[in-house]
Amino acid sequence: MGITSTVMATTLALTGVAAISAFNPEGPPPGHTGGFGEPTCITCHQGSDLNAFGGRVTIEGLPNEYVQGERYLLTVFLEAEETDLAGFQLAARYRTGGEEGLNAGKIHPVDDRVAISIGTNGLQYVHQTRQGSYMSAPDSTSWSMEWIAPSTGNSVVFHVAANSGNGDNSPLSDLVYTADLSVDAGPSPLGWRILLFSALPLLLLMALWGSRSSAGRTSAPDAHSSRSANE
Ligand code: HEC
Repeated sequence: MGITSTVMATTLALTGVAAISAFNPEGPPPGHTGGFGEPTCITCHQGSDLNAFGGRVTIEGLPNEYVQGERYLLTVFLEAEETDLAGFQLAARYRTGGEEGLNAGKIHPVDDRVAISIGTNGLQYVHQTRQGSYMSAPDSTSWSMEWIAPSTGNSVVFHVAANSGNGDNSPLSDLVYTADLSVDAGPSPLGWRILLFSALPLLLLMALWGSRSSAGRTSAPDAHSSRSANE
């Protein structure tokens, strides 16, 4: 009896330690966005299928084509019923090119709901903080951050995994949602400048030609009026 309870206490203590060490109070363990073969939060937050009916996560604030070096305000929206505490993890990575799978651009938190961790793979992962796990509305919540687009001109993919927790301080009976969003690079602002400079002589020529032909047009009524004066 004594031995059994000792074993039970030890087991409890050990699993307790395991749970505590598995959960970083400042956010989920890096590398759980579901992108590039990564697992999602469902590894630990079990109980429902991934992307179960009744909720969704979306990434807002990005154009189809990003301007190189431009700053964008990204927002991750999570909608899920009966959520008490929620969290997310997001990574921005190159979808193509020689740097495929590496971080694309830089992400900065804009408030204390969001923080950044670096994974063992050296990549930047954005996630909720303790403050950021509280809901902004009963059925939905959001996290905002700033993304500074890269200047390499390659396509970027954002992967997000979000967890709608029931607030029981355990990873069980939670709902996990994932989403991804790809954006292509638009022409770089420098590219536009170069284009404008090389087109400048042509534009000048066109302006000159335009003013000459319009000068010709304004002289036409004069010719007509002089003719009508002759009649
Ligand atoms: C390695 C296991 C593990 C992974 C992976 C994991 N979590 Fe957790 N998480 C836990 C544990 C354990 C708890 C409960 C302990 C606690 O709250 O301190 C927890 C609690 C939470 C809570 C509080 C929820 C509640 O109901 O109490 C949120 C929010 C959360 N995790 C978000 C995430 C998100 C988002 C991901 C994926 C990006 C994730 N976690 C991945 C282990 C994990």
